[in-house]
Amino acid sequence: MNSIATLVLKHFGENFSGSPKLYFSPGRINLIGEHIDYNDGFVMPAAIDKGIYIAIDENQTDTLHFYAIDFNEHFAISIQDIQINNGWRNYVLSVVNEFKLLGVSLKGFNCVFGGDIPLGAGMSSSAALEGGLAFALNEMFSVGLSREDLALLCQRAEHNFPNVKCGIMDQFANMMGKKDHVILLDCKTLQHFYFPLVKEGYKIVLLNSKVHHSLAAGEYNIRRQRCEQGLAILRSLLSIQSFRDITSADELEIGKSAMTLEQYNCCKYVVEEIGRTKTAAKLLQSNDMQGFGKLMYATHEGLSKLYEVSCSELDFLVDQAKLFPAVIGSRLMGGGFGGCTINLVEATGVENFIEQTIIAYEQQFKFHSEAYIVATSDGTANLPL
Ligand code: GLA
Repeated sequence: MNSIATLVLKHFGENFSGSPKLYFSPGRINLIGEHIDYNDGFVMPAAIDKGIYIAIDENQTDTLHFYAIDFNEHFAISIQDIQINNGWRNYVLSVVNEFKLLGVSLKGFNCVFGGDIPLGAGMSSSAALEGGLAFALNEMFSVGLSREDLALLCQRAEHNFPNVKCGIMDQFANMMGKKDHVILLDCKTLQHFYFPLVKEGYKIVLLNSKVHHSLAAGEYNIRRQRCEQGLAILRSLLSIQSFRDITSADELEIGKSAMTLEQYNCCKYVVEEIGRTKTAAKLLQSNDMQGFGKLMYATHEGLSKLYEVSCSELDFLVDQAKLFPAVIGSRLMGGGFGGCTINLVEATGVENFIEQTIIAYEQQFKFHSEAYIVATSDGTANLPL
């Protein structure tokens, strides 16, 4: 058994009695399609083998007990008293609250969790925590929700107590991930297709800038607002419903004078990224990895200059990547403002790229970055004991 799973069970045994069930809930990567899940776009995420392990058992009371190993924090609350709190508590309590809103009568439980997914690194530790708990509660109390229902429940949970108005990508990847596959998800309809991700001769490398990003800081919601306001203007001028209906740059120009520069830039990025992701899916299917990589670079440019969710550390990492012929694409991944870059790298050049970039990063910023070679996993699941 994985060492974190063992640790989680050990802590459960030390804190509570009973025989818990164990769950693994993965983080995610996203190949392309950034900040367009809440804009009716397409995204290409995959669940990864880093995530959160949860041990959980009913306790025959009406109290919920949590122990977060990574923070060494205990928290207990009666089911009747569930309300907004802070930090990791908001994620777990908001999930419980969503079950309550569905009219499900939950009972008390004991829950211990810990993980190996770096927090705030853009790999969606929050969706992993929400998904793991929601999946466990769904099983434990025989609620009968499907994986898709659970993903939507977790998205609502993230909107509610943590107040991050996220799209569906992270929660969907967390529930619906399939080992060795990437999901092409239409975020408007939730239609999805699985593509094999393992490409002969290439590796996906994440470089963690170690700049802590927090979506809760509000910038994420501001980007979403800019898009909504821009779209409202475009809808009043064009016969379109959503960004995906805009097919030419000229159409976008029609709304320009009625928008602020920030709104216009965000809309421009979204329209371009929707187009890029559609093209990228075709390139991936036809094994054109070089073409795919170029689109990743273009996405970064848009995220940095138009959407304004990058930072100097992430820009530096992408600029470094361009110096290595083995790196065929690089960009910031996830919400931005810190966290990781995702890099598509020829396998033979991976070691050199990682080594050199980590040195250059440290020289520039005087702190370490960290590299992970990505392995994919299935979505959230019960683990045999
Ligand atoms: C975060 C959100 C997602 C998505 C990404 C950006 O991870 O949770 O819904 O918007 O940022 O693509």
